[in-house]
Amino acid sequence: MKSRPLGIFDSGLGGLTVVPHLLRELPLERIVYFGDTARTPYGSKSVKTIQQFSHEIVSFLLDQGCKAILIACNTVSSTALNDLKKTFPAIPFISIIEPVVDEVVKKQKKEAKRLGVIGTKVTIESGVYRQLFKAELAEDSLAEKACPIFVPLIEEGLIDHAMMDLAIHYYLDDFIADNKLEALILGCTHYHLLEEKIQGIYPELTIINPAKAQVLATKSILAENHLLATEESREENAFYASDLSENFIRMINNICGPEDTSIEFKNLDL
Ligand code: DGL
Repeated sequence: MKSRPLGIFDSGLGGLTVVPHLLRELPLERIVYFGDTARTPYGSKSVKTIQQFSHEIVSFLLDQGCKAILIACNTVSSTALNDLKKTFPAIPFISIIEPVVDEVVKKQKKEAKRLGVIGTKVTIESGVYRQLFKAELAEDSLAEKACPIFVPLIEEGLIDHAMMDLAIHYYLDDFIADNKLEALILGCTHYHLLEEKIQGIYPELTIINPAKAQVLATKSILAENHLLATEESREENAFYASDLSENFIRMINNICGPEDTSIEFKNLDL
């Protein structure tokens, strides 16, 4: 069981931003990643569709022998987590949302900052961040904003294009100023790729990237369940996508290096 791989999935390439943290924190674990690049974005789809896609992906990851699954997608974590836990009760699922909320709540107790969260339309409308923070933070201390144009631009590889700068200013200038934000949670894994850019535009803002908290939570859950790998796997990390874009392949090669990595097309729409 310990030597089985760790599954991780996202609607596309956003979840790849969690992988470097996994490689650093859990170097013995073998990773099987699935990015649903053919059907991204999830952030404007119905809850029913997101749940159906998530079931298909989890079934595929379980066929690959995964012992636990990281949901590296806020949109899925906010709409399908409970449903997945019910359908696959034997598998530990690690959401990307709860661990960062716990981390932020601890920090807020020491130094309360005016806090914002940005995410997809589905994540923001689900109200998941508001609900999780509710018990811990004052009612008006969290501002939320959906930024639906970010994901298509990122999937198209346009992070450094002037259109991305325009989109950032369009969504964030007034949002940050009107709410006097001091800290911003990147509530969509795709947005992790904008971290430097957003920091450059708003240098005073503390940016919170949930990837590390998710990986630390994964480490604890694997340890609690006696599932931590004890020796390095002889098999390579595997990355699957429902549409193999050049951008996806380039990102994986940047993260893992071209050796010891397999990248394959996988159509789940059978
Ligand atoms: N990366 C995903 C998230 O964290 C969703 C992007 C999308 O498909 O809309 O929410």
